[in-house]
Amino acid sequence: MKKASLADRLAYAVAWIHGRSDLRPVAGVVLGSGLGRFAESLEKATLIPYGEIPEFPTSSVPGHAGRMVVGELPSAGGPVPVAVLQGRVHGYEGFAPDEVAFGVRVLGRLGISSLWLTNAAGGVNPAYQPGDLVRITDHLNLTGQSPLTGPNPDLLGPRFPDMNAAYDPALGALLEEEARRLGMPLAAGVYAGLSGPSYETPAEIRMLARLGADLVGMSTVHEVIAARHMGLRTAALSLVTNRAAGLSPTPLTHDEVQRVGAERGEQVARLLAAAIPRAR
Ligand code: HPA
Repeated sequence: MKKASLADRLAYAVAWIHGRSDLRPVAGVVLGSGLGRFAESLEKATLIPYGEIPEFPTSSVPGHAGRMVVGELPSAGGPVPVAVLQGRVHGYEGFAPDEVAFGVRVLGRLGISSLWLTNAAGGVNPAYQPGDLVRITDHLNLTGQSPLTGPNPDLLGPRFPDMNAAYDPALGALLEEEARRLGMPLAAGVYAGLSGPSYETPAEIRMLARLGADLVGMSTVHEVIAARHMGLRTAALSLVTNRAAGLSPTPLTHDEVQRVGAERGEQVARLLAAAIPRAR
């Protein structure tokens, strides 16, 4: 049997989601490690485990629930239909970059115009402390891979997409304004995306600092590349869960990452809930 094309796989997933919810999302959100809180603020929510969506890759990492939530975000200007990916799949689980990006492409085909990503990250910038929130202004894709490798799916976007404003300056400004209004400190920095799954060595962190990275993590860059390819406006927030290797006397653990996520997830949710309705 001929392998289904990406376009067919996306169309199949989207048709199936339309069969589960009448809402037509205008914004998409991807929630990282321990940051699932935002999904709880939605009304008229339809919860769809990834395993039920045709073609959708499913994750096994603790703290990544692995479901799509389609619902309405309450706001002063009226409810905003959103689609949320609560939990993501990662390259280190064995997924190819285009599978990592599949969920974001589904969101794009659902018709969203802005995409909001969150992640847990290590702080490479010595000024960052665990618990700090950082708006991503740009990234270094150091995975050595791209979700766009292979024949270009022309129906999604161009062969050579521009990455100049990968993190939309206007959406970034909205995050800044809303953070200020909420009295929430918000830094701005460059995210280095690595493959993992081992955390970095202190020498790698010194290298990343010299390359201009403020944050390090194992997600987001492939999703952003696929999103920009489709022309989606993108914004991203990192929650600093730990100082990167060599900057802290204690070893790094996934438990620590999840604990800080649980403590600060509420703030991330509030900031997203304030900024997203203004992106329309
Ligand atoms: N390195 C890579 N990924 C991470 C880290 C880190 O220190 N913290 C959370 N995700």
